[in-house]
Amino acid sequence: MAEMTELLHASVAGHAKIEVEAGPEPVWVDADATQIRQVVMNFIINASEALRGDVGRVTLRTGIVHADHAYLESCYTREDLDEGEFALLEVSDDGIGMDLETATRIFDPFFTTKSEGRGLGLAATLGIVRSHRGAIRVESQPGNGTTIQVLLPLVSPASPSEEATPPVRTPRRAKILVVDDEDIVRTVGRRMLEARGYEVVEAASGHGAANFLKAQGEDVAAVLLDLTMPRMDGEQTLKALRATGRTTFVGKPFRLSELTGALESLLADPAASPTPR
Ligand SMILES: Nc1ncnc2c1ncn2[C@@H]1O[C@H](COP(=O)(O)OP(=O)(O)OP(=O)(O)O)[C@@H](O)[C@H]1O
Ligand SMILES: [Mg+2]
Repeated sequence: MAEMTELLHASVAGHAKIEVEAGPEPVWVDADATQIRQVVMNFIINASEALRGDVGRVTLRTGIVHADHAYLESCYTREDLDEGEFALLEVSDDGIGMDLETATRIFDPFFTTKSEGRGLGLAATLGIVRSHRGAIRVESQPGNGTTIQVLLPLVSPASPSEEATPPVRTPRRAKILVVDDEDIVRTVGRRMLEARGYEVVEAASGHGAANFLKAQGEDVAAVLLDLTMPRMDGEQTLKALRATGRTTFVGKPFRLSELTGALESLLADPAASPTPR
């Protein structure tokens, strides 16, 4: 969290105040740091967009909470979580808040109330929280601000020997390189893939992609490539990528289900493959 504070200050608008309150006890979770960072950023950006005239307060809180049955019932989750202690990540704001109708739809992909919004931030967030076996809860009232809480299962601190063991790589955690010259297409691709638990790196051009793969591409499992880019176009890039010995697949426009289906079969490893949901 400390490392994010600067980034958070930069992303909160105008005269808004951002406060970070970390609980007294150390909190251990088994989580993908990049994805959790993305979750926090989505919350903070939404919170700052909800402030009135850029004035207000956004608070990020972390700690440990005891969640009882009733509390867990009021959460969005896919798991049957048992009552107990959880890691808490909470972002609250004193912005415009939401009515009940809005609050029930905020995790729907493409649901937005903003003229420039894409409605993907919270959909991606819910995917990430679910893939961490967590729960998410929203409290909001029109005019009275919003509090979003994420609960993640606690783990005991890793012993040195456990730390030395690399985490098991499931196909869903595989790293995907998204290549497209349009920012928006890369962003949507990134969010779709991250919501499914993949790690994403981006390149804005074929040259960029080829250079990245040459320099640090050992652990890129797949490349999502736009075939219709200017300059070094998709087809040339594909050739260059093939020359590096990569397996590549293409196809656009794509639907999330097609994309993840293709990825899952491409990366399928029967031994490690989790059940798709
Ligand atoms: N802190 C908040 N206060 C008030 N409304 C919120 C808050 N967070 C989310 N919302 C509502 O939920 C909707 C969906 O949020 P989400 O982050 O998924 O998409 P978005 O912010 O509209 O677009 P983007 O894809 O750029 O994030 C928002 O349009 C807004 O109506
Ligand atoms: Mg958003």
